[in-house]
Amino acid sequence: MDAKLICKLNERMKEGTLRSLSCFDGMTDFFSNDYLGLARQPFSPTEDYSGSTGSRLISGTSKEALECESFLAHNFDAEAALIFNSGYDANLGFFSSVPQKGDTIIFDQLIHASVRDGIRLSPAKAFSFTHNSLEDLEKKLRLAEGTMYVAVESLYSMDGDLAPLKEIADLCVQYKAYLIVDEAHAAGVFGKGLVDELGISDLVFARLVTFGKAYGAHGAAILGSLELKDYLVNFARSFIYTTALPPSAYHLIQQRCVVDLASLQDQLQQNIRIFRKMISSERLYSDARSPIQIIPIGDITKTRVLAEKLQAAGFAVKPIYSPTVPKGDERIRICIHSFNSEEEIVRLATLLN
Ligand SMILES: Cc1ncc(COP(=O)(O)O)c(C=O)c1O
Repeated sequence: MDAKLICKLNERMKEGTLRSLSCFDGMTDFFSNDYLGLARQPFSPTEDYSGSTGSRLISGTSKEALECESFLAHNFDAEAALIFNSGYDANLGFFSSVPQKGDTIIFDQLIHASVRDGIRLSPAKAFSFTHNSLEDLEKKLRLAEGTMYVAVESLYSMDGDLAPLKEIADLCVQYKAYLIVDEAHAAGVFGKGLVDELGISDLVFARLVTFGKAYGAHGAAILGSLELKDYLVNFARSFIYTTALPPSAYHLIQQRCVVDLASLQDQLQQNIRIFRKMISSERLYSDARSPIQIIPIGDITKTRVLAEKLQAAGFAVKPIYSPTVPKGDERIRICIHSFNSEEEIVRLATLLN
């Protein structure tokens, strides 16, 4: 491999932030996005796992795909739904194709890498606003040119805090900006997502829901108008130039969305409360209802040492370093689940204190 690439790997190694693949089978799960334990539930053994045979615009549009998209539109109270192979693909496809030259994308500074990568491929101008700051968002809206797009997450994946969505939506109405809400971590955890919970779907241009997290499946959908769906089918390259999901994947998505999640959601909230009660208040950073609870450390070595201590005690927990979060904001990211026992949560929290 080219020496420059080796050098980049060595730099990460020296800094202590080298990424590597590891399997934590058999350990107590405090790191997965399987918030409600649905990914652990078996799927029908009689299901046909055959492939989709092609991309959606050629042979990959099965009747299962069409049925699932109309089901999702109805389920999430949207005019239309378009399924992508993943949330990453959906954000990449949306942001690279919808905003045009002369338009402006304004995004929360902590927005997910998939949105950033879509923005990199877009001909539109783009700038960030201070995380969750309505004041800074308004300032940026005043400066923006052309059609304006505002990108936020409802529950931030690496911070576990919520966006002030209603206020952001109101600002977007005031400045005639199109609002895009990434609900990857909120959908399924807070009902069908925060947009639905707040009853503001009419104020949102597009919503992203993913099925690989609380729904325990795979894939993602962009929810919006029929016009937007037609546009994405024609111009979103990450939708067009890839083999579609297999028919069984659409069955699974539909199956997971019809499960009554209320008791699992209640149990999850109960477990979050148990965890937060055990952690001293000055270390609590994330939202009180968030299954993603961050313990900020702010130092690479200290973060690694704490993660190793937790792992040695049997807990599957990962340290989070730069570039996933800014340098100096290193942290331990704990994901609480409905299936974690009180005893597990108390043991974990004791080690964190
Ligand atoms: C906020 C957010 N958006 C999008 C994605 C991408 O979704 P997927 O895992 O389905 O590609 C993620 C995944 O971690 C995420 O956290």
